[in-house]
Amino acid sequence: MKKIAVIFGTRPDTIKLAPVIIELKKLKKQFQVITIATAQHRQMLDQVLNVFNIRPNYDLDIMQPNQSLAMLTKNTVEALDLILEKEKPDMVLVQGDTTTTFVGSLAAFYRQIPVGHVEAGLRTNDKLNPFPEEINRRLTSTIAELHFAPTETAKNALKKENISGKNIFVTGNTVIDALEIAVKKDYSFSVTALEEILSQKKKIVLLTMHRRENWGEPMRGACKAVKKLAQLYPNINFVFPVHLNPVVKDLVHENLENLTNVFLIAPLDYSDFVNLMSKSYLIITDSGGVQEEGPHFGIPILVLRTVTERPEAVKYGTVKLVGLDENKIFSIAKKLLSNKRDYKKMASAVNPYGDGLAAVRTVQIIQNYFGFSKQKIKEFVPHK
Ligand code: UD1
Ligand code: UDP
Repeated sequence: MKKIAVIFGTRPDTIKLAPVIIELKKLKKQFQVITIATAQHRQMLDQVLNVFNIRPNYDLDIMQPNQSLAMLTKNTVEALDLILEKEKPDMVLVQGDTTTTFVGSLAAFYRQIPVGHVEAGLRTNDKLNPFPEEINRRLTSTIAELHFAPTETAKNALKKENISGKNIFVTGNTVIDALEIAVKKDYSFSVTALEEILSQKKKIVLLTMHRRENWGEPMRGACKAVKKLAQLYPNINFVFPVHLNPVVKDLVHENLENLTNVFLIAPLDYSDFVNLMSKSYLIITDSGGVQEEGPHFGIPILVLRTVTERPEAVKYGTVKLVGLDENKIFSIAKKLLSNKRDYKKMASAVNPYGDGLAAVRTVQIIQNYFGFSKQKIKEFVPHK
């Protein structure tokens, strides 16, 4: 019996670790699973925990309003160390590129516990973009023992950094496993405002923004573009679940309030969000996870960033990097909203990120690592 500590704390890392926790828990004779929530996010974490019915064994309740990266890092490493000392797990699992991810792997390293990194190998090769995530994931790769790369591109990036190929596995991204759990045909939304919006039978443009490198002017430019679009297309509803980071929340409300067809709403729980996504016409976002989910439904995505560590869907044509320039965002979105041919060209359901089996592969690899099995791992290959 091996003890696996799964560490998570924000909305995206929890969504993407949920399928792995579910798979690990099926193997009761092999694994004891300890779930540790740093709660780097509070409300947005709880929304995910409820959807996947996860009751963490430990909840560090770290989040402070307007927390600084340094404070967050310090509080998280101290609190995690106490738990790792007490629980002495045989492996720690972390996901992605948040402070919880990096600090979780660092705390494990200090206790000489091997780390498995889910969604390893994403790179822009620009230290400040995304900030601080590019460095968080590089530091995590340096520490990790097992690297669960979502795509071949990610695997190659890790190899380039001299990480041994025998410890890197292309699993696909667990984000698609999570989607398959949450998206339902006859879904009824828990937020009644959404039912009302949908009952208007108008096209929906779904929006999200939160990235630190976009704070200030860049994000203001994106909001202005959205405002112009909303004014030009009164028959389209723009639904914007606004991230709880006060910097983001204040800026978005300042720029987009009081428009009849722009709905600034609280973050949606994961099921409401992805089911709304499945009914959307266009997505405008700076989110990493949303960039991976949209292509699953064949919904065109305009990404409010200048670089992306997720080049696959850009290559396939479902995702366009539009940057943060107000005029550029406006004109590209306008073209898509008014020209069916351009829209159709982008709206093809391709799935470069996963096939719903990423968590199964991840757990098979962990079983092999501990000698419970010698399974041949059938790596993820995308189908066009
Ligand atoms: C964090 C991650 C980022 C990830 C994003 C996903 C870091 C440094 N950043 O950014 O990589 O893409 O989450 O959303 O790890 N807040 C609340 N309630 C919540 C969540 C946040 O009030 O449920 C507010 C708090 O004031 C908090 C602030 O947002 O201090 C910032 O949260 P933090 O996790 O530090 O950064 P994010 O911008 O959310
Ligand atoms: N998401 C959600 N509710 C929302 C907005 C997004 O559950 O109101 C989900 C979305 O489906 C995706 C994840 O949150 O899986 C993305 O998180 P976020 O954009 O906060 O972080 P990133 O992926 O950029 O790190």
